[in-house]
Amino acid sequence: MAKLFCKHGAKVVIADIQDQLGQAVQEEIGTQHATYVHCDVSKETHVENAVNATISKYGKLDIMVNNAATADAAKPSILDNDVTEFERVVSVNLVGPFLGTKHAARVMIPAKRGSIITIGSVSSSVGGVATHAYTSSKHAIVGLAKNTAAELGKYGIRVNCLSCYFISNTAAKELFKLDDDGCSRVYSNLKGVALKEEDVAQAALFLASDESKYISGHNLAVDGGFTTINPIFGLFSQS
Ligand SMILES: NC(=O)c1ccc[n+]([C@@H]2O[C@H](COP(=O)([O-])OP(=O)(O)OC[C@H]3O[C@@H](n4cnc5c(N)ncnc54)[C@H](O)[C@@H]3O)[C@@H](O)[C@H]2O)c1
Repeated sequence: MAKLFCKHGAKVVIADIQDQLGQAVQEEIGTQHATYVHCDVSKETHVENAVNATISKYGKLDIMVNNAATADAAKPSILDNDVTEFERVVSVNLVGPFLGTKHAARVMIPAKRGSIITIGSVSSSVGGVATHAYTSSKHAIVGLAKNTAAELGKYGIRVNCLSCYFISNTAAKELFKLDDDGCSRVYSNLKGVALKEEDVAQAALFLASDESKYISGHNLAVDGGFTTINPIFGLFSQS
């Protein structure tokens, strides 16, 4: 996402807790266009500092992407789910986007423009795919986007979610305990094409740009129809 945004003329601030990786991406893009800041999105002072660092360096914030997320280990029963793990996931996946939206709005309101995008998941609209904590937090950010879109529209600020299906990257492989072969067999409604990180980046670019200037409060699904189709029963049943 950072690389694609820069290709389209943006200056990017990468905020993450993986310092080595963040700095490597910053170097790869070039320090003229990209800056890395250490930021734990669950901590308000960190998010506040990241936004302030952006204003100091670039003078404005046009686009905020709330992308950071985490997951807990899958447990077969809610009885085995630990409240501290639930709270840890919610603190990153929900409190993070809340703080990101709040501090982006703080500097976007005076500018009377801005696009805020929170990365959701198919678990933002259907149950049964991921853990209780992950699914709850990903549903909640859709509510947050709708509510903040309602508030911030009067300042010309758009707020949207971008919800993707399974992408066979390191994070998803670890979460679902899949190797390459397992990934290639993951169910998809849309055959002959696999969802890539680049596809999510392209959709984020669209939501960030003026091409989507009248889209706000929306949850854009990039899931090949996964969340809107029931493949088990009906005329086109795949079972
Ligand atoms: N990979 C998939 O199949 C998939 C599917 C649907 C949605 N998503 C969503 O896409 C987004 C990106 O996920 P990804 O697959 O690239 O995983 P990833 O683990 O590669 O990326 C998540 C990033 O968030 C960072 N992060 C975690 N906790 C943080 C914290 N407290 N503060 C700051 N940064 C923190 C991580 O260091 C990492 O760089 C997430 O919102 C995820 O829920 C991914």
